[in-house]
Amino acid sequence: MIIKSLEKLNIISNKIADQLTISDCICLIGEIGAGKTTFTRFLINYLQKKEGTKITDVLSPTFNLLYEYDLKNYKIMHYDLYRIREERELLNLGLLQENEKAIKIIEWSNMIQIPVSDKLEIHFEHTKNRNERKINFRGTGKWKNFK
Ligand SMILES: Nc1ncnc2c1ncn2[C@@H]1O[C@H](COP(=O)(O)OP(=O)(O)O)[C@@H](O)[C@H]1O
Ligand SMILES: [Mg+2]
Repeated sequence: MIIKSLEKLNIISNKIADQLTISDCICLIGEIGAGKTTFTRFLINYLQKKEGTKITDVLSPTFNLLYEYDLKNYKIMHYDLYRIREERELLNLGLLQENEKAIKIIEWSNMIQIPVSDKLEIHFEHTKNRNERKINFRGTGKWKNFK
């Protein structure tokens, strides 16, 4: 799918957000600047607005590896695994355990195997146009047929 603008990316992120349930995992794959953090920001700010919780900054967790957002009935855990070298570093982040009360959004998820059944992978690519991206979906479980 071709995403012609940030506004279009926002629309897609909101559509995905509306279908999210606790214990879902969204995996974002694509090079630096492809739009992974921007997608996550749109998604989290949309859910904050929808739930009437405070709209916050959504920054890249490049150095912290994880930022958490508390919504009314669940948490969103936003990871960036770019700097992860060993899977055991992830044990501290709770990433390899099932976390029933959290939605996980993982940039650079291709660094590890993620043992979650309902998973939507989104692959981002640049195109010739600066404000355009190509994205592909690859889902499992409830996301299997998402387009
Ligand atoms: N259609 C688009 N989709 C995603 N990002 C876009 C688009 N058009 C322009 N951009 C810009 O590209 C940059 C993407 O950066 P970012 O989301 O931090 O990427 P990543 O997290 O993949 O490294 C942002 O500055 C964003 O505003
Ligand atoms: Mg990023």
